[in-house]
Amino acid sequence: MAFTEPVLTKRIAQDPSQRKLHWYDDYVRTGGYEALKKALTMTPDEVIKTVTESGLRGRGGAGFGAGQKWSFMPKGEKKNGPHYMTVNADESEPGTFKDRYLIDYDPHQMLEGIAIGSYATGCEICYIFIRGEYHRQAKVLERAIKEAYEHGIFGPQGMLGSGYKLECYVHRGAGAYICGEETGLIEALEGKRGWPRLKPPFFPAAIGAFGRPTVVNNVETLCCVPHIIERGPAWFKTMGTPSSPGPKLFGMSGHLNRPGVYENELGITLQQSIDMAGGMKGGKYKAAICGGISMGVLGPNQLDIKLDFDDVRFRGGCLGLGTAGMIVMNEHTDMVEALRNCVRFYAHESCGQCTPCREGAPWMRKILDRILEGGGRLKDLDMLLELEKTMGTMPGTTICGLADGTGWATRTFINKFYDEFAARCTNPDTVPLTISSRPAVITPLGANTR
Ligand SMILES: Cc1cc2nc3c(=O)[nH]c(=O)nc-3n(C[C@H](O)[C@H](O)[C@H](O)COP(=O)(O)O)c2cc1C
Ligand code: SF4
Repeated sequence: MAFTEPVLTKRIAQDPSQRKLHWYDDYVRTGGYEALKKALTMTPDEVIKTVTESGLRGRGGAGFGAGQKWSFMPKGEKKNGPHYMTVNADESEPGTFKDRYLIDYDPHQMLEGIAIGSYATGCEICYIFIRGEYHRQAKVLERAIKEAYEHGIFGPQGMLGSGYKLECYVHRGAGAYICGEETGLIEALEGKRGWPRLKPPFFPAAIGAFGRPTVVNNVETLCCVPHIIERGPAWFKTMGTPSSPGPKLFGMSGHLNRPGVYENELGITLQQSIDMAGGMKGGKYKAAICGGISMGVLGPNQLDIKLDFDDVRFRGGCLGLGTAGMIVMNEHTDMVEALRNCVRFYAHESCGQCTPCREGAPWMRKILDRILEGGGRLKDLDMLLELEKTMGTMPGTTICGLADGTGWATRTFINKFYDEFAARCTNPDTVPLTISSRPAVITPLGANTR
């Protein structure tokens, strides 16, 4: 492990007052688009092989091998229409705000990654699907794309004078978390309700946008690509851990002295990430949601967990590293209320296709409301743990992973802080002193919440 210099944020000053947005000229002056020139001298297969050898794993949450995903795209002559590249800039997972940072200051880095990735996978059209609330970032991208057209990166004349043509568009979402799930995104892109599709048969590489082969990649994943092409897979693997190589952005929020986006390598410990953000604020460490709330929570005595795709899962007992959006909580945090906030989010964002998710999440939220109101019973905790086992793609009861998020948040919060949950049920007056506590929104049991 050796992280010696910023990679993805090399153009972004650490001092917020010094940060500036890099448009095309700034980007090129600092070495931008050199990797694309190099990629265009390689065959598409060589580009895929290079990315595969780097071990780059998707930064959108699942950690799937980027080169491997690209290799699934069909090759050869296209008879029935284009291949699509779709960029997932939906970023609606609570605690996650790293992609916005990359777009805010260095949009061409992502556009270069798009150009290389599209060349490698034979995509002729790219849609950047951006979260509805990201008004400024959508405008930034539109201007950067215009510049890229003017300078021969995109457009009908062929990429940098080569025969390869790529069109690129921004598509704005309407503010639904579920549109970040890749097949929900594709449905929304097609102008439909953002309902995730069943996989199989609808794997995007086979049947994606408009029924055509489609790649879906996260913003940060694509931002890694120009660096891998320029400096090679061996260099990329000098950072991170053997199974999770490379640099990573960590979105640090919560009870921290200097919350923000920080770059380091995969595999730093939770303690190191907290130190990076200026240490704890207002009290000692108690817990940290890792990777956005879907991944669950790391508890006390887990400060040595390595933030990579495996340690958080296998030793940390969470679903995974997710997006590395860390919400760090101090000793005064009310864990029952924190979980209720997470579950309330899932209950609101469920798209409603699968019964365990549509009915289970609001039911869980009502139980947590009742515990917070002072009407909890110990058997409520058993019920919550029973319910969480019945929902998700892992027990095989739902179409997408939103329900797994509900389950993992519930499982890890209750198991790691059982005494606090139990005390709240048996003696409602044992409310910990909370910094962020606010009055509970009380929904009577049985009320229609949808
Ligand atoms: C409910 C849900 C929401 C998701 N939201 C996002 C998101 O906002 N951004 C993202 O990149 N991936 C999100 N994902 C993961 C995507 O489905 C997909 O795995 C990812 O975009 C693939 O890109 P990558 O391989 O580059 O990581 C979400 C998944 C689920 C189940
Ligand atoms: S798991 Fe939930 S969000 Fe996902 S498809 Fe089913 S109902 Fe919709």
